[in-house]
Amino acid sequence: MARTITLKNPERFKDPANLTWERYVALQARERERYLAERATIPAEAMAYKTVSPRYLERAVDQFANNYYSELSATHYIATAAANAPFDELKKCCLFQLADEQRHLEMDREVFDRAGIPERDWLPAWEQPGTTCRFFRHLLELEDTVEIIVKANFVAEGAAGPGTFAVLADGAEARGDRLSAVNHHSRVRDETRHISYGRALAKALIDENPSNLDVIQKWQDQCLRLFVEVNKGGHRRTWWEGFLASYYKIALPLGLKKTYPLG
Ligand SMILES: [Fe+2]
Ligand SMILES: [Fe+2]
Repeated sequence: MARTITLKNPERFKDPANLTWERYVALQARERERYLAERATIPAEAMAYKTVSPRYLERAVDQFANNYYSELSATHYIATAAANAPFDELKKCCLFQLADEQRHLEMDREVFDRAGIPERDWLPAWEQPGTTCRFFRHLLELEDTVEIIVKANFVAEGAAGPGTFAVLADGAEARGDRLSAVNHHSRVRDETRHISYGRALAKALIDENPSNLDVIQKWQDQCLRLFVEVNKGGHRRTWWEGFLASYYKIALPLGLKKTYPLG
């Protein structure tokens, strides 16, 4: 396997959440408990998707597919990242994330099931233009841990969360989709941790060798170009600008430049 860039001195990378296996298991258990408690407050008819309009469900299939397949992809690419990790501290972060993404995946599968959307419709919804499909298929082709973490955690999760998930949660809640709202609130608590170790890795790479900045800039440009179709030619401008703004907030302080300007 070809390595791209890596840390010559792995000591430069420290898990910002400072997790040990014991602490992680306790944190996961608490999160699951909190999630189940919130989920238990949802009335039965909302859990059966009887509180949303038929029109909502028709349109929501695309969003459900974006959620579900992003999480499914995440379980795969983060497992690859863990398997190929160049040092143990990074491998540990990947393995904890793998358990998180697995949980997110289960939550999104339940949404599809309870909303009564037949499984044969899931993948075609994700494969059509205007989705995250092209970006995640690119990630799934990668083998190098550093490239995966910088592209997926620092760029993509850095852009998508936590702002985007708050917007998605509010939108779902307003339309009577309580389960999706509870799922988004739960997922964002993990994504924040994934972003912070992705950012710590990017920062360590740049601190160690300033020429790594050029490589990361190239990766950023490549990723954001794969995401631009989700903006649907400017039809989701508010979403897109929030997405870029959220990423630039963590990227510009590291010396990276904007791929797309903000309006
Ligand atoms: Fe996730
Ligand atoms: Fe994540």
